[in-house]
Amino acid sequence: MPEFHAPPISPLAIAFDAEKLTLSPEGPTLTRRMSDLEGLFLDAEAWSTASAGENPVVYTVVSSPVPEVDRELPQSITTIMPGDTSGELWMTKGHQHPNHQGEIYLALKGRGGLLMFDGERTEWLDMLPGTIGYIPPGWAHRSVNTGDEPYSFLAVYPGGAGHDYGWVLEHGMGSRAYRSPEGVELRPYAG
Ligand SMILES: [Fe+2]
Repeated sequence: MPEFHAPPISPLAIAFDAEKLTLSPEGPTLTRRMSDLEGLFLDAEAWSTASAGENPVVYTVVSSPVPEVDRELPQSITTIMPGDTSGELWMTKGHQHPNHQGEIYLALKGRGGLLMFDGERTEWLDMLPGTIGYIPPGWAHRSVNTGDEPYSFLAVYPGGAGHDYGWVLEHGMGSRAYRSPEGVELRPYAG
């Protein structure tokens, strides 16, 4: 299995294929199934049933070999499958950077959204291919598939920023994204 390169990193060219959604050379790939998203969907019973049953892949993250260490600038491509759990659109777990630093997402394929929460304010960005979503330091962030095909985006982020998933379990995300005739409806987080 591919791994992150060990620092110090030498300059390198990374082939980015926005159609095949690959980075080459490649680093590790992360697969998140429904069972990995405990405590995140409002309908815990529907989540539990789906986890215990088919336990579908909700999203995958492929990385370049640039490691997640301070001062490096890793990249990854996330693909979220289309679907919803009791109407709540499939999404990433969402995280806060414990070491507050910014990040950019570039939408590649499909339709999605970028939900951000700073503990008080919620922001939503529609993400269509070509959109760069900017995540300022201190804003927790979650991506959502609002369409009916896989939604993919490229992330570029400070390697030392870290991923605090517990922050979202503790504070929520301010809003939840539900399927609607218009694609997405934001509702108060509740629970
Ligand atoms: Fe991040």
